[in-house]
Amino acid sequence: MSRLVPATQMLKKALEGKYAIAQFNINNLEWTKAILTECQALNAAVILGVSEGAGKYMCGFNTVAAMVENMMETLNITVPVALHLDHGSYEGCLKCIEAGFSSIMFDGSHLPIDENIEKTKELVKLAHEKGLSIEAEVGAIGGEEDGVVGMGECADPEECRKIAELGVDFLAAGIGNIHGVYPENWPGLSFETLAKVKEQIGDLPLVLHGGTGIPADQIKKAISLGVSKINVNTECQLAFAKATREYIEAGKDKEGKGFDPRKLLKPGTDAIMETVKEKAEVFGFTGSAAK
Ligand code: 13P
Repeated sequence: MSRLVPATQMLKKALEGKYAIAQFNINNLEWTKAILTECQALNAAVILGVSEGAGKYMCGFNTVAAMVENMMETLNITVPVALHLDHGSYEGCLKCIEAGFSSIMFDGSHLPIDENIEKTKELVKLAHEKGLSIEAEVGAIGGEEDGVVGMGECADPEECRKIAELGVDFLAAGIGNIHGVYPENWPGLSFETLAKVKEQIGDLPLVLHGGTGIPADQIKKAISLGVSKINVNTECQLAFAKATREYIEAGKDKEGKGFDPRKLLKPGTDAIMETVKEKAEVFGFTGSAAK
């Protein structure tokens, strides 16, 4: 029996309770352990996001699913955990359904809307037959992800309605958000678009990608307008890199057994746990496992 759950329930509760669940992307064993451990300590439900590139890096989706399942058992993780494909291709979605993921995202935002609708419809059926939740995307999220650069669009609310009607469990709509670090001249989230999308999709939870670096007041406003899932990746990467660099620059890798990977990677792992704690504060997901 899988320990993983689809993300549907946790997001419904988040929408009702006016907070957001975090999707933290995982890139290796240390990140996964740090995020699971901290979310357990916070009694918080969590979504572990895996991009196709990260999946490849971690030796495939089967390896990732087995790692997360076994880690949950060993660490005695009892909070709800969804293992979710991030920005999946059609083929990637099929692979993750087979591998035992509990949630998938089909990103057809770059396709003509009719093709996005067609493929999303097929995947909704397949995912639901196997008990997985499914996210779709309208309006490409800008910035860079796995080498693909988008321009940060605002979704067409009418198209959002069409995709929502296909039975997806949550929807990512571009509202001027971008992946990675926001440029100095970023105009901020388009709350006008968000409100119009919300009008069209009713009670469907909305997803905000590019959670790194969005000021807390904008995050809170987005949550108040129906955002229930916020994705964070770059912020963990930056925190991990900074802590590791400081450790090495201080020469600690040369002291005693400081070069032992278990010691070398610890500051970075601790920094990820801190990031999870900070996000819990802003998104309001502490204690969400009990809700
Ligand atoms: P950031 O890398 O900007 O945090 O965005 C993560 C994301 O949206 C993953 O889908």
